[in-house]
Amino acid sequence: MLKKMIEEIEEITKLAQQEIKEVKNQDLLEKWRIKFLGRKSILSKLFSTISNLSIEEKKEIGKKLNETKNLLVQLYEETKKKIEKVKTKYNFTFPGKPFSIGKLHIITKVIDEIVQIFYKMGFGVAEGPEIETDYYNFTALNTPEEHPARDIWDTFYIKKEKGILLRTHTSPVQIRVMGKYKPPLRIIAPGKCFRRDAFDSSHSPVFHQIEGLMVDKDIKFTHLKGVLSYFLQEFFKEEIKIIFSPSYFPFTEPSAEVSISCVICNGRGCSTCGNTGFLEILGCGMVHPNVFRIVGYDPEVYTGFAFGMGVERLAMLKYEIDDIRYFYLNNLKFLGQF
Ligand code: DAH
Repeated sequence: MLKKMIEEIEEITKLAQQEIKEVKNQDLLEKWRIKFLGRKSILSKLFSTISNLSIEEKKEIGKKLNETKNLLVQLYEETKKKIEKVKTKYNFTFPGKPFSIGKLHIITKVIDEIVQIFYKMGFGVAEGPEIETDYYNFTALNTPEEHPARDIWDTFYIKKEKGILLRTHTSPVQIRVMGKYKPPLRIIAPGKCFRRDAFDSSHSPVFHQIEGLMVDKDIKFTHLKGVLSYFLQEFFKEEIKIIFSPSYFPFTEPSAEVSISCVICNGRGCSTCGNTGFLEILGCGMVHPNVFRIVGYDPEVYTGFAFGMGVERLAMLKYEIDDIRYFYLNNLKFLGQF
C-alpha cells in the first residue's frame, strides 16, 4: 500500500512536470492547477486517504505529499510569473506609441501665405529655372555684360564661359513670362536664389525670393504702392508704417526700396532694426522701358511695376526668428513649432 502510494505520488509529479511545459497561457495554467492541485486532484485524494495509515506511514507519506505539493505550487507560481511577463511584453491592448506627422517647412508655409494674399488680388503664380543663363539673370534685365551693377549680385557660375549660373534673384522669371505672354499680366514668382554670401545669422548662400510683376496700359506707381501696402498689412496683420524711398535697380525706373516700421520694437528702435525703427524689406520699381523693348512690348503703350522680396527676411520678422540658419539646419524641434 505504502509503496503503491509512493509510486503514485512520483508518477503524478512526473506528469505534472511534463504537462506544465505545455502551459503557455492563463487558461491552460488554471486547468493544470485544477488537475494537479485542485480539490478533486489525485494529490488531494491521497491526502484524504492518509488517515487510514499507521503513524509511521502517515509520517512518511505525509512528508512526501507535502514536498510534492510544495513542488507543484512552486511550479505553478513560476509558470504564472512567466506567463505574466510574456503578457506585459506583448500586450496588444496597449495604445500605440505616438509618432510625429511630417509638416510643411516654415519657408514653404510662408510662401503659401504670401501667394494666397496675392491670389486675392488676382495674381497668378509663375516659375522659372534655378539654373539660369546670364542673359535672363542679367542682360535682359537691362544689366549687360560689364555693367557695374552686376557686382551687386555675387554670382555662383556653373560654366562662366557659357554664361550658365545659379540665378541670383527671381527677376529672370519676369523675362521668361513676358517672353511667353502678352499683357495684361499679373504674376508672382516664388523660388530659390543663390549668392556667394557667407553663411551667418543674416546671410545664406541659398535663400528664397518672391518676385512680382504687373503689366498693363496705365499702370502707375500708385498701383505698386497700393498692392504692396495691402500685402504688407495682410501679411503682418498689424498696423505697420510703410516707407518708399528712392533706390537703384537696372531693371526699374524709378526704383524704390520699401521699409516697414520694425515689427519687433514697433518703431521704437532695437538691435533688429539697428535702432532706426525701420526695416528694409523689398526692392521695387516701374519696369524699365529697355526691359519691355527686350521682350518685345511697346513701352509707349504698356507700363508696369515689379518687386522682389526675401522670404526668409519676411519669415524672420513675422515669427521673430533671429538667425537665418535655423531654416536650413533641419532641427525638428525648431521646425516643429510652426
Ligand atoms: N531682384 C532684386 C534683388 O534681388 C530685387 C528687385 C528689385 C526685384 C526691384 C524687382 C524689382 O522686381 O523691381 O535684389
